[in-house]
Amino acid sequence: MLTIPVLLENDSYDVAVGDGVRHHLGQVLRELRGGAPKQVAIITEQAMIDAGWVHDLVIDAATVICTIEGGEASKSLSTIERLCTELVEAGLSRNDVIVGVGGGIVTDVAGFCAATYHRGIRYVSVATSLLAMVDAAVGGKTGVNLSVGKNLVGAFWQPSAVLCDTETLHTLPPREWACGRGEIAKYALLRGEGGEDLLDLDLHEQVGACVADKAMVVSSDERESGRRALLNYGHTLAHALETIDLEGGASLDLRHGEAVAIGLVFAAELAFDLGRISEDRVRAHRRIVGGLDLQGEIPRGLSAAHLVDLMGRDKKANHDLTFILDGPAGIEVVHGVDGAVVRSSLERVGCLP
Ligand SMILES: NC(=O)c1ccc[n+]([C@@H]2O[C@H](COP(=O)([O-])OP(=O)(O)OC[C@H]3O[C@@H](n4cnc5c(N)ncnc54)[C@H](O)[C@@H]3O)[C@@H](O)[C@H]2O)c1
Ligand SMILES: [Zn+2]
Repeated sequence: MLTIPVLLENDSYDVAVGDGVRHHLGQVLRELRGGAPKQVAIITEQAMIDAGWVHDLVIDAATVICTIEGGEASKSLSTIERLCTELVEAGLSRNDVIVGVGGGIVTDVAGFCAATYHRGIRYVSVATSLLAMVDAAVGGKTGVNLSVGKNLVGAFWQPSAVLCDTETLHTLPPREWACGRGEIAKYALLRGEGGEDLLDLDLHEQVGACVADKAMVVSSDERESGRRALLNYGHTLAHALETIDLEGGASLDLRHGEAVAIGLVFAAELAFDLGRISEDRVRAHRRIVGGLDLQGEIPRGLSAAHLVDLMGRDKKANHDLTFILDGPAGIEVVHGVDGAVVRSSLERVGCLP
C-alpha cells in the first residue's frame, strides 16, 4: 500500500493506494479526528453494490446506504436535495460521516452533500474508478452541474481520508480506464520534460505519482487562487464539449476523461497558433495522448463559434477567454486569449465556422 499525505494548513489527510484498501475503512472511521461516528451514510451507485464493492465494507456504526443514478445528469442539485432529505430521514447528525464509494460522479456528489448537509459534516472517499483515484477524489473540490454548464455549483470541502482501492478496478469497463488515462495524460504533460516517464510506471506507482503531483499542487494552493488552476489543463475545451451534452441538443456521448484528452491536444494546437510553442511540443502532446491509447480529435460537425461561446462561460474565465497553455515558461494560465484566434484554431483542426 502506498500512502500519500495531502498537507494542508488545517486538517491534512492521507490518500491510501492499493489492492483492497477499502477494508481499512473501519479503522479510518474509528480513528477520525473528532472521534468515531455513531452513524455513517454511504453514498454510492447501484453499479458499485452490484460489483460487490460495498457489501464487504466493515463499519462499526449504524450504516445507511443511499444510491444515485450513474451519469453526469445525476450530478445535479435535485440529486443533492433528494440525498439530503434521505439523510435527515435516516437521522444523520452533524457528528456523523458521509462515505462516497464510486467514481468521480459519486465523489463529487457525496463530497458536496457532506459540504452542505448541516453546513458541513466529515467526509471519506473510497475511489473506485481510475479517474477518481488519480484526480476527482483528491483535493476537496466538490460540486454539481447545471444544465448550462459543468461543475458550476460547488464547494471546497476536504475529505478526512481517501482510499483508492485498486482491486475495484477489476470490474471497471475499458472505456472508463481510458477516461482515467485522460487525466494521467494531463499529469504527464504538466510534468514537462521527462513527463512521459509517468507512462512507464506500473498501475500502483502511476496512481501514487498522480496523487502525489495533485497533493503537491493542492497543498500549495488549496482554494485555487493561483497554481491549482493548472490542474485544469485541457479542461477549457473539455468542459465546453461536455456542456453540449448537458444542454441536451446534440449528443456527443463524451465522458469527462475523453473530453480532457481532446482538450489537451487542442490546448497545444492553440498554443502553437499563438506562437507560444513549437510543432515539436504539439507532437509531444499528441504522442502522450496517443501513447495512452486516447483519441485527441474534436468530434466532427461542431461549430467553432458555439464552442468559443461555451468556453467564455468557463469558471476560470474572468469575463474573457481563459486557457491553460504551454509556452516558453512552461504551462500557465493565460487570460484574455483572442476569440478570433481560438475560432481559427478550432476551424484549422476541423470545426465548422
Ligand atoms: N472534483 C475534482 O477535482 C474532479 C476532478 C476530475 C474529475 N471530476 C469529475 O469526475 C467525474 C468523472 O468521474 P469518472 O470518470 O470516475 O466517472 P463516473 O463516476 O461516472 O464513473 C465512470 C463509470 O464507471 C462506473 N464505475 C466506477 N467504478 C467502477 C468499478 N470499480 N467497477 C465497475 N464500474 C465502475 C460508474 O458506475 C460509471 O458508470 C466528472 O463529473 C468530472 O467532472 C472531478
Ligand atoms: Zn478533469
